[in-house]
Amino acid sequence: MKSYEEVYKVVKNGLSASRFKHSENVMDRCVEFAKLYDEDVEKAKLVGIAHDIAKEFPKEKRVRTAEQDGVKLTEFEKNHLSLIHAKHGAIICEKDFGFSEDMCDAISFHSTAKAGMSKLAKILYLADFCEKDRPFVEAEKAYEKGKENLDEAYLYALSENIKFMIEDRNQIDIASIEAYNDMLK
Ligand SMILES: [Fe+2]
Ligand SMILES: [Fe+2]
Repeated sequence: MKSYEEVYKVVKNGLSASRFKHSENVMDRCVEFAKLYDEDVEKAKLVGIAHDIAKEFPKEKRVRTAEQDGVKLTEFEKNHLSLIHAKHGAIICEKDFGFSEDMCDAISFHSTAKAGMSKLAKILYLADFCEKDRPFVEAEKAYEKGKENLDEAYLYALSENIKFMIEDRNQIDIASIEAYNDMLK
């Protein structure tokens, strides 16, 4: 696996300054939660910095380049271009950085979540929701919950994201609903 320094450099070169700052913020939260919940800190740090590596790929080429790189997209993802960066990012991290399967899985589902999320995947999802510069109050609440109970905080972030989508009249990926139901089993 590539070193943190190498990954950091590649990610930084591929993102705008503001997106890179977001990635650093997510990484900081990932590290904090990994320490709290006994997860591998190095893995958490790497998925945090790299999770949005494919976020700024040109919109018009997103489906084509993802499929060229071997990403299997759902019909829903093909119609919701903002979701594609998650699975595409995971494949890039696997091929270019040698990230392990659990790390790639966390990156793949950092936007939609899914049923059966690993601890690392929950940490990344929550960290992405509650990084320190998020402009909504729910982020601070999620962060506070995150210091107490990972599952509760993750479920809160997931529920709030689903609410945001409903309020904005956006369609919801079935994987997010399955993730939600799974947490209430
Ligand atoms: Fe993302
Ligand atoms: Fe992100």
